[in-house]
Amino acid sequence: MARFFLTTPLYYVNARPHLGHAYSTIVADAVVRFRQQLGENASFLTGTDEHGQKIQRAAEAAGITPQQFADANAARFREEWDRLGLRYSYFIRTSESRHNAAVGEVFRRMQAKGHIYKGEYSGAYCVHDELYVEGEPGTPCPTCGRATEKLTEENYYFRLSAFQQPLLQFYQEHPEFIRPEARRNEVLAFVQSGLRDLSISRTSIRWGIPVPGDERHVFYVWLDALCGYLTGIGYGSPLPADQQRFHELWPAWHLVGKEIVRFHAVYWPAFLMAAELPLPRGIIAHGWLLFEEEKMSKSRGNVVRAEPIQRVMGADALRYFLLREVSFGQDGSFSYDALVARYNSDLANDWGNLAARTLNMIQRYFGGKVPYPAAGVAWLHQDLEIMRQAEQARDSLRAAFLDYHFARGLEAVWQFIAGLNRYLVDQEPWALAEKSDAESRSRLATVLHIAAESLRFTAILLAPVLPESANRLWQQLGLEGDAAQRIDGLTWGKIPVDQAITQISPLFPRLEKAAAVEQLRKLEAEAEAASLPPAAAAGAAAAPPAATPASANQAAPANQAAPANQAAPANPPASSAPAGKASSPPDAAASPAVPPAAARIPIDDFAKVEMRVGEVKTAERIPGATKLLKLTVDIGTEARQIVAGIAEAYAPADLIGQKVVIVANLEPRKLRGVESNGMIVAASVEPSGKPVLVSVPADTPNGSRLR
Ligand code: MSP
Repeated sequence: MARFFLTTPLYYVNARPHLGHAYSTIVADAVVRFRQQLGENASFLTGTDEHGQKIQRAAEAAGITPQQFADANAARFREEWDRLGLRYSYFIRTSESRHNAAVGEVFRRMQAKGHIYKGEYSGAYCVHDELYVEGEPGTPCPTCGRATEKLTEENYYFRLSAFQQPLLQFYQEHPEFIRPEARRNEVLAFVQSGLRDLSISRTSIRWGIPVPGDERHVFYVWLDALCGYLTGIGYGSPLPADQQRFHELWPAWHLVGKEIVRFHAVYWPAFLMAAELPLPRGIIAHGWLLFEEEKMSKSRGNVVRAEPIQRVMGADALRYFLLREVSFGQDGSFSYDALVARYNSDLANDWGNLAARTLNMIQRYFGGKVPYPAAGVAWLHQDLEIMRQAEQARDSLRAAFLDYHFARGLEAVWQFIAGLNRYLVDQEPWALAEKSDAESRSRLATVLHIAAESLRFTAILLAPVLPESANRLWQQLGLEGDAAQRIDGLTWGKIPVDQAITQISPLFPRLEKAAAVEQLRKLEAEAEAASLPPAAAAGAAAAPPAATPASANQAAPANQAAPANQAAPANPPASSAPAGKASSPPDAAASPAVPPAAARIPIDDFAKVEMRVGEVKTAERIPGATKLLKLTVDIGTEARQIVAGIAEAYAPADLIGQKVVIVANLEPRKLRGVESNGMIVAASVEPSGKPVLVSVPADTPNGSRLR
């Protein structure tokens, strides 16, 4: 059986997962389910990248050890994937001990072949991207644009320069190695412009894997993390079963975001060539999910989380939106409006309605049994056309998905669904049912038989993207097993006739758009407030997200032909996480309850925080956000717009003219779409976490710095 092994990037644990991370993992899950439905032995690995300066700093800022920090956030990633029903087979954390040994082994192999030497690096480094950058320190990082820092230290170097020609030759021999084409061209240009040797160890940080035999050094985090793809499936383990698994699965396909193609398409194959290990099969790069026109990322403060969406409309709706709306390989915009619009038009109206209509008519006109197509009666041209369209949808989806063109594949299935809806309108089975002559009755049987068989097709074709709803449809059709049947072997005419359908419930109850968008925004704001740093979130962080599904869910489905729908509107699927798992773990990075394990810091660290006295000039509520206020604060040199989670403790009018203390040098972030340029300092008073503003005497000049 053909094998297909895919990896997602190993996510940094400096923050909780957001929709950008979910996007990669959802794509991997859909691809693997699709490949399984082609009869392949397909699986995927995901995991977390836990070492390096970025994590070390984030842990310091939270006052806990890097390991505690990584434990808390790695658990969140895992829980998120479980909650979304993503079926990874392997999960690797780079702080696991099994991983240490494997990285050391790869290094020893590279060293044994003479590809490593010791030297000194002095130059620019981007901590955010953990990237060595050409040029003077301070030069903007080519990936994220942040100012680079000066780094001078003794390092082990990898002779990357020696791999320029072998890499170019490899790309030439494997034109499919990097996709899409645009990314391949970027990589070729980068390698052709010359490769410099790469520093692969650090002495100035401790949070990493020690270099065997020279433990003052820890490995460069990218060498460490990339090796996770090997360790996660057994490389370096002394156990024969692990070794065998590694040999069966490796090499992998790597699915990555476009910003990390260079690490995967240049450094990684060079490391593997040096260690004489097989090279990956290929790198599949996707674009970014944009929100409010920018890359969704924690540092920009424009993140959306998956959980509220899942709670309002189900994980399937999110999967469908991401794969249908984003043209794979390119950047795509996320918006609540577009999400709800797609849900209503494609899922509730087109597919959901088709299913409910058909099943209800089978229920009503044939006592709930899938009818036989009338014997001895020639099929009409329109009937044959549906058959043709079903097979065409199958072939188009298969070809498109094999090529990672998910939107195109789904579009083909929706053309079929639209054709089918038209067919029902044209054939008017409800009118046929009114007539009692034998011809009308046999025509009715044929039409509903064709519709039921078509539904079986849609369930199978959509199972990779909409697994939960495809299975619900499968069940309602009364079919055995699940909808994840073979796509390549899918042929017309296999629905067992005379079998009983089961209880009908709408696949996607229609949502009232404005209410659903409002509900999504509210849940997102609550999730966001729960992840704010303690002082800014004071008063907001303590509230757990609402546990009830959106009331919009309960809105009656807009399905005129399906009264059964209205009788039993089903809420979208609840959590698919295994029982016993907490859906909302304490936020170790932000929670004031975390013990300050590494509480003492050098004075220099404190000096990095610029706290100033300010005076509130304007204050107003943010529509729809119960806990947030938008303030303008005069800090002497300028008026700052700051969003603070204090609305439940302070009325806007009472704040005007009040002196406050703000943190002035935080990066801007957006809360509920409103930019915040700083943070108001407040005490968080237990047990409720009520915020109490820190103030200074009224005559303290605005802008005075706190030292
Ligand atoms: N730790 C490295 C990867 C090491 S792989 C051996 C890393 N981590 S990351 O958490 O910053 O991002 C990983 C991936 O998350 C990106 O490559 C991309 O796949 C996904 N995304 C993060 N933000 C994203 C968007 N806004 N949009 C789409 N995907 C995004 O880089």
